[in-house]
This record gives sequence, structure tokens and C-alpha cells, in this order.
Amino acid sequence: MVDCVEMAKKKKAYIGVFDSGFGGINVLRGIVKALPAYDYLYVGDTARTPYGARSADTVYAFTRQAVDFMFANGCELVVLACNTASSDALRRIQQEYMPKHYPNKRVLGVLIPAAEEAAAKTANRKVGVMATAGTVRSGAFVRELVKIDPTIRVAQQACPLLVPLVEAGEYQSPAAVLILEAYLKPLRRSGVDTLILGCTHYGILERQIRRAMGPGVRVVSEATIVPKKLKAYLTRHPEIERKLSKGGERVFYSTDLTDAFSALGSKFFGKPIKAKKITLQ
Ligand code: DGL
Repeated sequence: MVDCVEMAKKKKAYIGVFDSGFGGINVLRGIVKALPAYDYLYVGDTARTPYGARSADTVYAFTRQAVDFMFANGCELVVLACNTASSDALRRIQQEYMPKHYPNKRVLGVLIPAAEEAAAKTANRKVGVMATAGTVRSGAFVRELVKIDPTIRVAQQACPLLVPLVEAGEYQSPAAVLILEAYLKPLRRSGVDTLILGCTHYGILERQIRRAMGPGVRVVSEATIVPKKLKAYLTRHPEIERKLSKGGERVFYSTDLTDAFSALGSKFFGKPIKAKKITLQ
């Protein structure tokens, strides 16, 4: 009996953070900084990244598998740090899958926090979005921004080459500088005064992007915004917050253990991380 009570006391109730790869570790870092007491479980689907070039149905299937794993391993709340998953899977997961399978748990995305921040910041009502081809194709950022303010005009730019460059650690190479400039030029021309970095991997390029866009453009980074919004969410939802355990644990899972995951993941997190390998199916 005593043992059962001890076990019940020790049972973790994690905040889960999911990404198609390791870019979401940047968002996790911000969340941990804002809310350090909680226990965190990170999943990066590195074996199947990038999601950005996949169909909506595939992104939904992969994301659902990750969500199943995370709930089976003690998560109470999961944040889809991946913009492509937030665009292609979040609504279906929240509306169709969760009520049937996990009615008492929650899955949140990153698009609405970023869209709300951009809508609050823009003065000329012209907002730029840099994202994967999948996120741009889904139109999810446009939908969210226009829902907040129908007068907002959105200039979207798909940047399919940036994720591979970041994954390869080549994001400061001369080729990367040229490619980034080719993506930013049309955004500058469209006159946006606010730019959403709508992909986990672009956080590492933030300084380069700010410099290239110039001082007149405000850059919305999910690694800064999502932690604030999550904090506010937990304050508004004490029934969820109460369930979360506070042991300061950070657990990392990855569907492929590559050198890049350890090296760049540690860089994104700001300290060394060690991931365990899992299979999602
Ligand atoms: N994590 C994805 C996102 O934020 C980028 C990487 C990918 O294409 O899988 O959209």
C-alpha cells in the first residue's frame, strides 16, 4: 500500500513538446526558461524529417503517432512546436482524435500564438510569413491572421532549402547567405513591417534574418512567444496545470540518433542533451 502511494507520488505528468526534428528544441528551451519547474518530454521525428514537403495526410498520420507515444509515456499536455504539424494536423487532432481517445488531455499548436503576436505588432497591417512549403500550402497562417484582423494582408514565402541547410549545419555558408537573401527579397519588396518565423529551424537564423530585413521590420520568433502564451494558458486552465508534475526533468526522444541531433540539439537547447531512440508507428 505504501509502495503504491510512493509510486503514485512519483508518477510523472509531463509537458510534451513535439517537432519533426530538433528545431523544436529551440522552442522547448524558451518554455523551460519561462516555466522551469515542470517535467518535459521532447520527441523529434528525425527519421522522417522534413515534414515540410509531405502531404497533409502524411503529416497528420505521423503527428498522431507521436501524440500517441507522448500520451502513452506520461504527457498530460503536448505542444506541437512544428509549424507544419500545427498547420496540417492540429485541427484534426483537436477536433476528431482527442475527444475520442484523450478527452482529458490537451494538444496545442504554435500558429495562433505567433499570429496573435504579429497582429498586435503590425502597424501597416502587412505581415510576412516564412515557412515550409507545407505550411504555406495549408494557408493556416493566413487563416489565423485574417481571423484576428480581416484587414491584414499576408505575404507568404516558402523556404524549402533552409531546413536542409540548418540540419546540415551549413546555415552560415556563402550558399546559405545567397539562398536566404533570395527568400527575403520578395518579403522586403512586399512592404511587410512584421515577419513571422513560421518554422522551428529558422530560430537559429534569427539574427541573420533581422539584419537582412532591417530595423523597420519586427520579427516574431516562436521561441519567445510560445513560452509566454503557454504560461498564460496554464494560468487560465488550473485544471490542466494542477495535473502537471514539477520535478525539473527533461527527457529527449528521437526516431533516429544522428550526430546532428546531439550536436545541433545541444546547441538549440543551450546545454548538452542525450536522446533515447524510439520508433513511431
Ligand atoms: N519543424 C518543421 C516546421 O516547423 C520544419 C522542418 C520540417 O520540414 O520538418 O515547420
